[in-house]
Amino acid sequence: MTGSILLLVPPGWGGLWQTPLAVGGLKVHAHGVDTYDPADIRYAVSFRPPPGLLKSLPNLKAVFSLGAGVDGFLLDPDFPRHIPLIRFVDPTLSGEMAQFAVLHVLMQHRTQSFFAAAQGEGKWRQRMLPRPTETTRIGILGLGEIGTVSAERLRDLGFAVTGWSRTRKAVPGVKSYAGAGELDAFLSECDFLICVLPLTADTRHILGAQTFAKMPKGAYVINMARGGHVNEPDLIAALDCGHLSGATLDVFETEPLPENSPIWKHPKIIATPHIAAITSPLAATRSILAGIATIERGETPKNIVDMGRGY
Ligand code: NDP
Ligand code: OXD
Repeated sequence: MTGSILLLVPPGWGGLWQTPLAVGGLKVHAHGVDTYDPADIRYAVSFRPPPGLLKSLPNLKAVFSLGAGVDGFLLDPDFPRHIPLIRFVDPTLSGEMAQFAVLHVLMQHRTQSFFAAAQGEGKWRQRMLPRPTETTRIGILGLGEIGTVSAERLRDLGFAVTGWSRTRKAVPGVKSYAGAGELDAFLSECDFLICVLPLTADTRHILGAQTFAKMPKGAYVINMARGGHVNEPDLIAALDCGHLSGATLDVFETEPLPENSPIWKHPKIIATPHIAAITSPLAATRSILAGIATIERGETPKNIVDMGRGY
């Protein structure tokens, strides 16, 4: 193998990836740290590369995403769309995302904040579940790799689970809605709405006033996909008027979430810092090296992004 791998990660993160990737036999350069000849780069590895940079690598053969979501690449108008972009698909990542969904559904379903407040007052306050599990309806926007595992875990806990995707799915025990024409029917059945869609032109701001208005009063929203899915002022308005009962947000339009954002202190929002799942360097390195070996054999690697769909 000739050429090098270019790592485009935030300063200080290169060490996590540089040594494990180097076992593949290619030199690994960290952008911003090492000097390198752009013509020498065959593969790039990143999550949110600096706009325009990938276009400047004349001999690039493929780009590997360190995340499942690839919006950080495709928002760059200069992204070289003829080059294969390979996203990260990993059962551990999907499993951890599903854990996040289960955790935040159960915290609400089991009214954990009520018991935490009672403990704070030193009071023994018993209470039934406000709603039976089997009639609590959970809708998952995006029934792909992560959405499917999340749906299965929530189904196995006894919830009534539905999913919405572009194409119809057959996940046992999970009702499938497909396409824009079935979105309203899907939304009308969501006591919880969990977003795990890719961020594309079609899905940007899907969590906005129109969507919330179609959901039952008192519904709870969990966004663990991308901040761009949420229209933040619309969400706050729907919470403040009592139409939505609360929201868990792991991702934000601007990250890190600005200090002056009203989200930080909103009493009905749980905010976490984009940690629903974090890519494992070991798993990602294995998958990148396997992808490079496949390409070097002249074969097509798995999980190539469809540029037409944008995910
Ligand atoms: P997949 O590509 O496997 O699944 C995407 C799903 O969304 C598919 O079911 C697809 O439908 C559906 N979809 C896409 N566009 C539309 C549309 N316009 N209308 C209806 N359905 C649509 O992605 P993953 O499950 O691997 O990842 C999902 C997202 O999760 C990532 O893009 C990323 O943004 C986010 N993520 C967030 C993390 C975090 O820490 N917060 C960590 C990991 C991922 P179909 O199957 O029919 O094509
Ligand atoms: C991802 C992420 O897309 O971590 O994998 O957000």
